[in-house]
Amino acid sequence: MKAIICAIAIVLSLSAAVAAAESAATVQADQNAETLATHVCSNCHGAGGDSRSPTFPRLAAQQAPYIVAQIKAFRANTRGEQEAHDYMLGMVALFDDATAEALGRYFAKQPAVAGTPGDPKLMAEGKRLFTQGENGQGIPACATCHGADAHGNGIFPRVAGQHAQYIVKQLHAIQAQIRKSPVMHGIIKNLTPEQMNAVAAYLRSLS
Ligand code: HEC
Ligand code: HEC
Repeated sequence: MKAIICAIAIVLSLSAAVAAAESAATVQADQNAETLATHVCSNCHGAGGDSRSPTFPRLAAQQAPYIVAQIKAFRANTRGEQEAHDYMLGMVALFDDATAEALGRYFAKQPAVAGTPGDPKLMAEGKRLFTQGENGQGIPACATCHGADAHGNGIFPRVAGQHAQYIVKQLHAIQAQIRKSPVMHGIIKNLTPEQMNAVAAYLRSLS
């Protein structure tokens, strides 16, 4: 009996030690991520992910799992856009997976950027496409995956408040399969440039 109690005590103290080590590692990763985010990522993506240039996507309030998935995609070179190669390929070699997860957590908790309304007619067209899709072209409602508010969910990115130019550029890259996104490619393969502009104007107006 004594031996059993002793064994249980050892197991319990070992698992407590493992948990403490894990949380210390998480705290360390969170600190690394914050340092990187404020000193490195912010140079392009803006303070707190509030980028001011459409070359650089906004990361503020982005879904953490999506951020991690994109870091992996840059590493695996499945995002073949010139900008992904020029700007992000070297960047993602600077940190490990635990820090990538922590960077996801960091940007996910930054406040979302306020939207900027554009041309009302374009926004209305974009809203219709986003919320209802286009039956005739076999395009489902974008909201099914990106959420009614476009805030995203898990690996489905937040697209609300994103730079319109960046959205259009990504839609072209996915359509041309330069950026490999099998799910999105199937959905938007018939999207016209006009529809891309409309949906981007709508998304840019949200926050
Ligand atoms: C020198 C500029 C630069 C720096 C520094 C930089 N990025 Fe980027 N990042 C870019 C550009 C440009 C893109 C868009 C690439 C494209 O058009 O495909 C991008 C895209 C991304 C994306 C994809 C976003 C989306 O909506 O698809 C993520 C995630 C990302 N960067 C994370 C980071 C993190 C985390 C850091 C800091 C460790 C960082 N970046 C530092 C330029 C930069
Ligand atoms: C079946 C689910 C699904 C539907 C429907 C869908 N998307 Fe997506 N979308 C995704 C996924 C998953 C990704 C991330 C792809 C990746 O990892 O490269 C994505 C990525 C995107 C991106 C890139 C965002 C960024 O930050 O780089 C844009 C823009 C986008 N979707 C717009 C749309 C639009 C517009 C529609 C409607 C016409 C739509 N999506 C419909 C699943 C979907």
